[in-house]
Amino acid sequence: MIPLDNTDAASENTMDQPVFCKLDLAFIRLLFPLQTLQRAARLALLQSPAMHVLVTGGAGFIGSHVAESLLQLGHKIAILDNFDDFYPQSWKRRNLEEISHSGNITLFESDICDTNALSRVFSSFEPELVVHLAARAGVRPSIEQPVLYERVNVGGTLNLLEAARQYGLKSFVFGSSSSVYGEGSPAPFREDSYCLRPISPYAATKLAAESLCYTYSHLYDINIACLRFFTVYGPRQRPDLAIHKFTALIENGAEIPIFGDGSSGRDYTYVDDIVAGVCSAAEWCLEQQRTGGRHEIFNIGNSSPVRLRELVAAIEKATGKSARGKNLPVQPGDVTLTWADIGKAGRVLGYQPNIKLDEGLSRFVEWYRRQPVTLRA
Ligand SMILES: NC(=O)c1ccc[n+]([C@@H]2O[C@H](COP(=O)([O-])OP(=O)(O)OC[C@H]3O[C@@H](n4cnc5c(N)ncnc54)[C@H](O)[C@@H]3O)[C@@H](O)[C@H]2O)c1
Repeated sequence: MIPLDNTDAASENTMDQPVFCKLDLAFIRLLFPLQTLQRAARLALLQSPAMHVLVTGGAGFIGSHVAESLLQLGHKIAILDNFDDFYPQSWKRRNLEEISHSGNITLFESDICDTNALSRVFSSFEPELVVHLAARAGVRPSIEQPVLYERVNVGGTLNLLEAARQYGLKSFVFGSSSSVYGEGSPAPFREDSYCLRPISPYAATKLAAESLCYTYSHLYDINIACLRFFTVYGPRQRPDLAIHKFTALIENGAEIPIFGDGSSGRDYTYVDDIVAGVCSAAEWCLEQQRTGGRHEIFNIGNSSPVRLRELVAAIEKATGKSARGKNLPVQPGDVTLTWADIGKAGRVLGYQPNIKLDEGLSRFVEWYRRQPVTLRA
């Protein structure tokens, strides 16, 4: 059970308290390089007294890790999630059970497509920061259900931006995807690439939602960071994603499907690095409070793509078992490569991924083996 905490938010807004106001910034700048200072200011803000943070999709894979980290930093967290049927609800309940050890969560079991529900969430919880991660995820299923993907990923994001406007929210982090780069962008992918040609409905919905974020930032002075995540893995990973699926099949001695010739590449990024990127982006939004209306896109990846056949070898090493592969045709909607240029995220957010694939995979396998059989893929 998740302990519910419906503390009134109104009296607890500490956002306007200056962090370094009593220090002589000019003198400090002489002592420390600018980037170090920016990072220190971000960390100071993040460690400031409890903020009200709404995490949409917080029962899912990435959202539960983000919520857990923010809880551990002492913030008040509300999760808005409709426990959709993309994978079993019981797994998402388990995620919430795990993170409830880090503190109290206010849980709104609601749909981002329900505007009345969003009004209730914003008026009762009064978020100061929204981390919007709720979505229909997955490239291949989006080809089967494009209308559903559009309704949730575009319509739902618009509903949240509208709620942000109505309730005067100023800081908004949006979970976008590397899939927006499609097949045309030169690698490594840069945020200022003009060759965005999404090749699946999922990718197109993420690009459309990024555009809406820009529009709302421009019109209503909301600070918005759109984060393009690159194939995220780690404990609680979605079961449809390759690392989880392959691990489960290899553990059970079953064949793994290899789509294409095994040469496709993905920039696998460990979930702790993703969470660090989300937190830094949240800090960046909060830092812009005085100016307002800032919108930036950041790649949050590992910048070290791995071919599919190398991934399989790495999972074999992590599990200590041999894989049996079955070659299948390339799937429509799948891109051949993702590869993040993380220069901008490094410069502006101080983002630097730390977890190498071998280390991340052994942590994932260790987590997988600890799960009850009923909660395994
Ligand atoms: N996992 C990745 O590799 C990856 C890569 C790029 C982008 N992303 C993005 O990151 C975000 C989180 O992805 P994830 O892998 O944790 O997926 P996930 O499916 O585990 O989490 C998404 C959560 O959103 C909830 N949700 C779905 N529709 C909803 C709705 N209408 N109202 C409220 N809640 C709803 C789901 O129940 C789920 O708990 C998504 O926006 C996804 O598109 C993920």
